[in-house]
Amino acid sequence: MSLAVEIEFRLNGVVRRATVPADMSALVMLRDVLGLTGTKYGCGEGECGACTVLVDGACINSCLMFAVQADGHRVTTVEGLANPDGTPSVLQDSFCETHALQCGYCTPGMLIAAQALLDAVPQPTEAQIRDAIGGNLCRCTGYQQIVDAIKHAAARLARKTGSESNFEAL
Ligand code: FES
Ligand code: FES
Repeated sequence: MSLAVEIEFRLNGVVRRATVPADMSALVMLRDVLGLTGTKYGCGEGECGACTVLVDGACINSCLMFAVQADGHRVTTVEGLANPDGTPSVLQDSFCETHALQCGYCTPGMLIAAQALLDAVPQPTEAQIRDAIGGNLCRCTGYQQIVDAIKHAAARLARKTGSESNFEAL
């Protein structure tokens, strides 16, 4: 039997406490202990990106992270990307507008990867967009609509802030 450990961390802006087995993955904690099922289990071995979350702003495969490693850190899941009033963010809405999902299984990880990119590089190039989602597999879309969604989001965000974009909003 694995040792149980108490941890405290900030999840989507809210301080959460949990008691978790020392060998539990962060992915299992998020889904099965804390009930946030937006983050998906795909391969379980760091290959598909379906389980991607932000830890202190960086993309992490939560299937490869122990839950106890969240202690003292900031974790953002796809549930934390919406606007404070619960409406979809510009990025989420852009995925809808460009039909960037079919089965949607990869979408939470894609959104997290895209959010991390736009946080770091608000007006990326297409090469930077493709590089940012390089660790996320999609079986359905052929990726083009996902790239288009991130371009569209960047253009919409530039329009909001009055800055230059590499892309036109659709
Ligand atoms: S489930 Fe974590 S990378 Fe595939
Ligand atoms: S939309 Fe089905 S895996 Fe990407």
